[in-house]
Amino acid sequence: MPEYAFIGRSNVGKSSLINMLTARKGLAKTSATPGKTQVINHFIINDNWYLVDLPGYGYAKVSREKRARFSAMIEQYLQQRANLVCTFVLIDIRHEPQTNDMDFMNWMIEQQLPFAMIFTKADKLSKTAAAKSVAHYTEVVLQYWTEMPPVFVSSSETGQGREEILSYINSLNQLYKRNQ
Ligand code: GTP
Ligand code: MG
Repeated sequence: MPEYAFIGRSNVGKSSLINMLTARKGLAKTSATPGKTQVINHFIINDNWYLVDLPGYGYAKVSREKRARFSAMIEQYLQQRANLVCTFVLIDIRHEPQTNDMDFMNWMIEQQLPFAMIFTKADKLSKTAAAKSVAHYTEVVLQYWTEMPPVFVSSSETGQGREEILSYINSLNQLYKRNQ
C-alpha cells in the first residue's frame, strides 16, 4: 500500500497535521514539548494507504547518541521503503530557511527521493504575512534549486490546506495503483 511520511524539525506540527488530515484528534500524540515522537508510527487510512509520523530532527535536548540513532533510522527508512510515495517536509511558516531543513531537503534531492513542502501554523500569521513568508522562502531556496517541489500552506487549528493535501495524496494514490 502507498505511504506518505511527515518529517521536519521537532515541534513543527507533524503529529498535529496528521490528526487534522485524518480528523482524529488523539491519533498521533502531540505535545508542546519538542521530541514527543520518538519512533516511526504508521497510521492506516481507509484500509488502503498509510500516513507515517516520523520523529522530529534537530531537537537538541535528546542525547547526541539518540539523535544519531534517530537520523540513521530515518535515513534507512527513507532510502529503503519501496512503497513510500512522497515525503512531506514541514516548515514553520514563521521561520527563515534553516540549515537543518535545507540539509535534509538537499539530501532528499541527492537521493532522488520525491518530497513536497508544507508550511505549517499559518494561523499564527495574517494572510498577507503568510503569503510574504512563503514567497521569501521560495526566493531563497531558488538560489540553490532549479525548481520548487509542490508547496502547501496549512494550519492544524483552522484546517487550512486539508483539502489540497488530501487531494494531492489521492492523485498520487491513483498513479501508484495504476503502476502496480
Ligand atoms: P515532535 O513529535 O516533538 O517532533 O513534534 P511535532 O512536529 O509532531 O509537533 P506537534 O504536532 O506535537 O505540535 C507541537 C506544538 O505546536 C503543539 O503545542 C501544537 O499544539 C502546536 N501546533 C501544531 N500545529 C499547529 C498549528 O497549525 N497552529 C498552531 N497555532 N499551533 C500548532
Ligand atoms: Mg510528533
